[in-house]
Amino acid sequence: MEVRFLSPAPRASSTLEAGKAAKTDMKYVIGNWKMNTTVPEAVALAGRVEDGVEDLFTSGKELPTVVVCPPLTALAPVGDVLKGRAVAVGAQNCHQDEPGAQTGEVAASMLAGLAEYVLVGHSERRVAGETESQVAAKLQAVVKAGLTPVLCVGDTEAEAAPGEEAVRQLQSAIAEVKAADVETLLVAYEPRWAIGGDHLADVDHAASAVATLRAALEVAGLGDKSAVLYGGSVTPDDVTYATAIEGVSGVLVGHESLEATHFVSIVGQVAG
Ligand code: PGA
Repeated sequence: MEVRFLSPAPRASSTLEAGKAAKTDMKYVIGNWKMNTTVPEAVALAGRVEDGVEDLFTSGKELPTVVVCPPLTALAPVGDVLKGRAVAVGAQNCHQDEPGAQTGEVAASMLAGLAEYVLVGHSERRVAGETESQVAAKLQAVVKAGLTPVLCVGDTEAEAAPGEEAVRQLQSAIAEVKAADVETLLVAYEPRWAIGGDHLADVDHAASAVATLRAALEVAGLGDKSAVLYGGSVTPDDVTYATAIEGVSGVLVGHESLEATHFVSIVGQVAG
């Protein structure tokens, strides 16, 4: 695999100035590769994404913060490809406890050096049995480890009041988190019926849910430290609808992040 070494495009998240900016003023594109890619496939995909993102930078685009979340098996090799480059690495999960006797698990603190971001409470994990108290404990563990959490929340029923369930999930997750301890909290609003499909959730529903989430984040003292992303069937064809939603600062992309040209097209459309 060929990895080109241009002068690296700056990461929006890692500059001092960006660190001082309100998180809502920043833009994010996060790719969730889920349970896909062998190690060689992951390394090749990361290289293609990096090349595409660097091309965008070279063409004068102001890049959003771009993150890819490979499976655990590929965190280190993908990290080697992306070290010092424009695209950051995230993990898809962690365990909530301190390191110890938990066979097969990985503590948040063990991800330091491998990932800068960690998805917490993805709906596929909630469906598989992850409880709200585990999500809350994971969020605290990620904050304690100095990593940036991407807390996934979402409504289950399209017919229910927009944001009602998502806000309950948010409030449960942040209940024990002290705002002063949080540098950045990314919240991905992912309506469950829109995940893994081929069209976005109703944009008015999403806008109203996002407004409710933003209001709850303000009340929790996290307004300036947080950003809300939209997730669920984002494609290059409809990403601009998602990012046009008031209060949305970027997107969490699932299946379309496995195709480098599609993911880079999404990054390009979110870029200024
Ligand atoms: P999708 O997944 O883009 O494949 O719908 C989004 C997610 O689950 O984060």
